[in-house]
Order: sequence, then structure tokens, then C-alpha cells
Amino acid sequence: MPVALHKLLLFTFGIVYLADGNSALLSVRKDPRCGWKPHETKPWSYFNLLTRIVGGNQVEQGSHPWQVSLKRRQRHFCGGTIVSAQWVVTAAHCVVDRYILDYLNVTAGEYDLSLEEAEEQTLPVESIIKHPNFNPGRPMNYDIALVKLKGSFRFGPSVAPACLPDPDEKFDPGYICTTCGWGRLRENGNLPQVLHEVNLPILNYKECSKILLTLRKPIQGDTLMCAGFPDGGKDACQGDSGGPLLCRRKHGAWTLAGVTSWGMGCARGWINNLRKNYDQRGSPGVFTDLRKVLSWIHGKINADLKMKSSTASCSSQDGKLHGNEGSLHFPESPKHFYENNQLCVWTLLVPKGMHVLLNFSHFDVEPDTFCDYDSLLVYSKDDRLVGKFCGDDPPSPILVGYNSVRLKFVSDNKEYGAGFSMTYKAVSPDALPDSGCGSLAVLFKAGVIQSMHYPEPYSNLAQCHWIIHAPEDHVILLTYQSFETEENEDCSYDSVTVYEDSAKEEEIAKSCGFAVPPPVLSFSNVMLIIFKSDETETFGGFRATISFIHMAGKGSNEYKWQPAFPQGQHRRFSRES
Ligand SMILES: *[C@@H]1O[C@H](CO)[C@@H](O)[C@H](O)[C@H]1NC(C)=O
Ligand SMILES: *[C@@H]1O[C@H](CO)[C@@H](O)[C@H](O)[C@H]1NC(C)=O
Repeated sequence: MPVALHKLLLFTFGIVYLADGNSALLSVRKDPRCGWKPHETKPWSYFNLLTRIVGGNQVEQGSHPWQVSLKRRQRHFCGGTIVSAQWVVTAAHCVVDRYILDYLNVTAGEYDLSLEEAEEQTLPVESIIKHPNFNPGRPMNYDIALVKLKGSFRFGPSVAPACLPDPDEKFDPGYICTTCGWGRLRENGNLPQVLHEVNLPILNYKECSKILLTLRKPIQGDTLMCAGFPDGGKDACQGDSGGPLLCRRKHGAWTLAGVTSWGMGCARGWINNLRKNYDQRGSPGVFTDLRKVLSWIHGKINADLKMKSSTASCSSQDGKLHGNEGSLHFPESPKHFYENNQLCVWTLLVPKGMHVLLNFSHFDVEPDTFCDYDSLLVYSKDDRLVGKFCGDDPPSPILVGYNSVRLKFVSDNKEYGAGFSMTYKAVSPDALPDSGCGSLAVLFKAGVIQSMHYPEPYSNLAQCHWIIHAPEDHVILLTYQSFETEENEDCSYDSVTVYEDSAKEEEIAKSCGFAVPPPVLSFSNVMLIIFKSDETETFGGFRATISFIHMAGKGSNEYKWQPAFPQGQHRRFSRES
């Protein structure tokens, strides 16, 4: 199994949709997975806005991965928006029926209602929380509810959360946002089978209030947010209720600005309202302004998390795990989230003389470029840091060349994740020379390393990594015994590269071809060795010995060596200063 080193060294960062490398996004503290469409790599263009919901377009499959369909006995009746794996936001008026839990299902990854698509995930509902100020007699105000699923959605290309707005985030009048749903394509029109969307400008609140006062039953409320075109022609319609009004924030993530609530007819326009009969008048689309109910949403979700995670803190500080193999799950169930402000330590101990192989199967720790918020730290012998991990890709397997490993999990006071699961097992050091090819090998002893299958040809697309730690006051000498790799002028096809540190920052030597390269001496007591091959041509590979050399008297140009392994081989080298 290839090991991707960029994920290993000090962080794993889980934004998979960020193909344009938008670094501004990295400053968004909340779930950085939110608000990205799977294929969205180009900056958003205003050109595709005013194309011809009512007056909208059919969307491409997967282009609103946060959109869900609330279903009653398999039939769509309202929309909703995924904001986390377990929570969906919808309109309160969609879920007023007191027996609703008996029949309600929520489907994510839905596109064509008449088909059961491979990406679909349907979950029943555990509970529904309507906003306490919601009043069915005045259903346009505080028209918002939280739906807690029984189980969690698995995120992927067709299922992903939208972002919740930041408390100070505003979408000003004129800003063009998008609403979507399976609602009617015109007033009293047909229900479409596939998801539609329409782009609408946000209206000024005062203007909107004035328009709403021209209706027979004047609409007023604290949470109203309006969007639409005065001439009509584009709008949300019946069946869209509960779905999202999404605005794209500066860095590009799609943010839930409003929940589709109400409209007078659909797409009627309101310019000449006062000259029309009451029953002919129109209104903009009315949405529940998310910013007005944001603290309520956060409060409910966090309170629930607190309850749930009471089982998810580390029960035993410095828990010791013994034996030849075992597993560690934190929290115990992947359905739980870990708590804030955790510091958990586990020590894995396998029999003396054996090495420990860690293999992660599930990983979900608050992502950050440097894993500065929540992280899992792996320490080996003498408390040396092997790696610091976060994000949602499991780290590659890690082989630690010692019989104990310490794991430390820390979380800060914000955000959360579902933790990690891994297995560990004792492996014999005899199996080690090509260990770096199936895992990241972190070694503490002098010995031999080699490419996989040596002396048989190595595999194409190999990625082998060894990190060597020598004791303090030692440097590391890598001596090739044989060498046979694809020849290339700058060694860009197949090569062995030696770095000064485990962060791949300083390259000491890069070798390829068929001549045995000169030995390589490290500058400190750490050395990183990477062997990689491309997709064509394979040869016998390499075998090399690792030895440790004691440096007496730091600062002197000449080192007095005390060879550790193998005797005498290093004597040809003197270090340049
Ligand atoms: C909810 O969905 C599941 C899975 O599709 C289905 O088996 C079940 O019958 C649905 N429940 C209702 C009440 O429709
Ligand atoms: C890690 O576990 C997976 C199964 O979960 C297995 O396929 C893989 O071979 C294991 N890797 C190592 C290096 O043992």
C-alpha cells in the first residue's frame, strides 16, 4: 500500500474539493468541508446567474449535495438542508404534524425523485426541534426547525453539508443567491422529478416589508428575508418549502442564508400589486433569515452534542494496552463525537523486541493546516514525535521500530469530530527491510533497508518512506550495497531521495541509475529516506545499511566516530563543514 508522505508529516488536511487551492478558505474555522460542490474548481462566475423552480433550471446531479428531500411514505413533501452528518435544517411549517416521526424519512443524494440513485441515503428521524417562537397561526415567522437523524449521513461527492453563516456574515440586498427544490415549476403546475434551482437577488428588508403589507393578510415578522424579481418570473413554489436559499461567501463556500418559507402564489411579481385584486397580488419569495436564528441553531446542536458525548471522553488517562494485537476506538462508537477540551493518552505495548504497526480505518478530527486545534499525536521511543494528525483522511499505516507507542489526543474548546479507529499489532523486526513500502517506517536502530521484493524488481508507482532516528549526539550514515533503478538525468522517474529532516525540507542527496551512489551522511540524528518509482520500467532496486555514528565534541570539524553498524564502513568519509 503506497504511503503518501505529505499527509503524514504533521498534518492531514481534508478538503478534497479545493482543487483551485484557495488558501483563503483555510482560515474558515468551522467544518471546512461545508459548502463545496464536488466538481466546483473554478471561481464562481456571475455570467451563469441570470439564465433561465419557477423560471429556473434543472441542475446537474450532485450540484446541491446538501439538499435533502423530506418524505412521507416515500413521497417528497418538503426540502431541507444538511448542516452536519446528523442534522438537517428545514421549515417548521413542514413538520407541524404531531405524528410525523411515524412516517418521516430524509433522503440525501437525491436527484431524480422517480429513481433510486446509487448515491441516495435515506435515514429515519430521531427528533425534531421547532423554533419555540414558531406559531402555526403566523407560520411565516420563525419558520425553522431542526431535524435530528437516526444515524448519520456519509459525506461524499453527492452528500455534503452547506455552511452555516458566521454570526457577522451579511448578504446584502442585491446579492444574488440560489434556491433549489423539487417544488412546482409554475403556480399550480407540475411537480418535477429532478432537482431545480433558481437564482434570486436578496431584497432590502424595508422594501420587502412594504410589499408584504399590500397583501390581504399583511405579513410581518422578525425573521423574514425576501428574494426575487419585482416582475416575477422566478421564484420558489410549493414543494420547495424547507429547502435552502444559498449564498456564496467570499471564499466561495455555499452558505445557508435562508430557509424557503412562503410566497403569495409563485413568481407573480408585485410591481403593480396595488392595482390588482387581492387574490391576484404577488410577493417575493419569503425565507427565514438564518442569521436571526443562528444562535438558537448552534445552541440546540451543541446541547445535543454535550449529552451524547458524555460517553465519549477518554475514560482512562494513560490507558495501557498490552498484547500482540488490539484495537483502539475513540470515542468507543464512531457514532459519537469526542468532547471539547480532551487530553487522552494511551500507551500501546507489544512484547519486547517486537515492533508496532498502527493501521487506521476511520479518522475524523477537526481539520486545520497545522492541526493546531484538535489532533492525534503519535510518539515513539524517548517521546519522539512521529506524527501529528487531523482532518478526515486516515493516516497511512505507521510502523514504529520499537515495542511501545504513545498516542495522545487533544481537543480544544470548539468544533468536534467523530474521532478515530485503528488496530495495532506486533510485527517481527525480521520482516523489516522493505517495511517502508507498506507503511511509514520509523526506525530507531541501525540495520538494513531495501526496496520492495529486493532483489526482484520493485513495483511501479512505489512510495516507500523510512524515518530514521539515531540517539542524541549521533549522525546517520546510509551506505548503499547495491543500486539499480531507472536512469534519468535529474532522477525524476525512479529515485531514492534522502532528506535532512522528516518534514522533507532539506534534500541531502538524490540518486538513480545503475552506479552505486556514494554513502550519505545526515546532519543531525534524523534522516528521511524516500524511494519512489513511476508507472513504467522496474529494476532490482536498492539495498542499504543504516549505521549510527557518535559525534564527540560538537562544533569541531572532525568527528571522532564510534561506529555502531557496520564496523568500519564509514571511514572513507569526512564531513565537510
Ligand atoms: C423509510 O425508508 C426506509 C428505507 O428506504 C424504508 O424501508 C421505510 O419503509 C421508509 N419508511 C417509511 C415510513 O416510508
Ligand atoms: C490495514 O488494514 C486494512 C484493512 O482495514 C488492510 O487492508 C491493510 O492491508 C492494512 N495495512 C497494513 C499495512 O497492515
